[in-house]
Amino acid sequence: MSQKTWTVLDLIRWTTDHFASKGIETARLDAECLLAHALETDRLRLYIDYEKPVLEGERAAFRELVKRRGDERVPVAQLTGRREFWSLTFEVTPDVLIPRPETETLIEAALQLFPDVEAPIRVLDLCTGSGAIALALAKERPKARITATDVSAAALEVAKRNAERLGLSERVAWLEGDAFEPVVGERFDLIVSNPPYVAESERASLAPELAHEPEGALFAGADGTDFLRRIAADVASHLEAGAPLLLEIGSGQEDRVAPWLEAAGLEEVAVLRDLAGRPRALRARARGLR
Ligand SMILES: C[S@@+](CC[C@H](N)C(=O)[O-])C[C@H]1O[C@@H](n2cnc3c(N)ncnc32)[C@H](O)[C@@H]1O
Repeated sequence: MSQKTWTVLDLIRWTTDHFASKGIETARLDAECLLAHALETDRLRLYIDYEKPVLEGERAAFRELVKRRGDERVPVAQLTGRREFWSLTFEVTPDVLIPRPETETLIEAALQLFPDVEAPIRVLDLCTGSGAIALALAKERPKARITATDVSAAALEVAKRNAERLGLSERVAWLEGDAFEPVVGERFDLIVSNPPYVAESERASLAPELAHEPEGALFAGADGTDFLRRIAADVASHLEAGAPLLLEIGSGQEDRVAPWLEAAGLEEVAVLRDLAGRPRALRARARGLR
């Protein structure tokens, strides 16, 4: 990237090849996202500006992003500071898990369970991180009262900023604490959670990008089910009669976690699949009539 005139297209091509040579699967997409970020524009605009020369000052900022992505494998969302989830833009920092598209499975299931847009439901988002689930539900169900909890104070700060930016601050109560401790004695019409569920035993084989996300958001014991087991043990006492639980799990954990939910008295335990067809969540119901 030296003396010659570099156009937008030159930079995209060079960077795509560079990222591909480093084993990054989404090389072209990443190159475009980072260049758009460095030029303070959007990806579509890059296509219009393919032949436009990029000035040295802009290239310097881009070079730094390329280095951090290619050499340090920092995720694009952390470099740009944002990620889309459920068509909403979330601020992302190293203090929060980057919201994943698979987690939209939980949002779709929640909206199906409560199709009435005006439903005044009380919802708990346990392990809220960036606030992705709580805020997507707050947006879709404007009469819902949402409580969102996390053990990480730093994550909750990011979530609160996301709520403010999305104009949803009044709709969510943010509580800090371990598991159900912040909501002792409370019951909800719906509990949703994407807790940590990555197995320690998989640590060495994980994509290098995961090293940049908070450990506490990812790992949960040797086989990843430690926290899921805690949720299963305590969740029934926080659900109203007949109220549903939507719990994200890792693919392959369904056969271990479903029996824990049944043992805790939950009924109608079902596996939900994501768009790729992989088991992604469990749905269950507390006993009793709604
Ligand atoms: C997998 S991330 C999910 C974040 C967000 N819900 C999402 O779907 O993008 C799990 C979150 O659980 C939080 N967490 C980890 N251990 C916890 C605990 N013992 N009690 C409450 N939250 C916990 C982490 O801080 C992290 O924000």
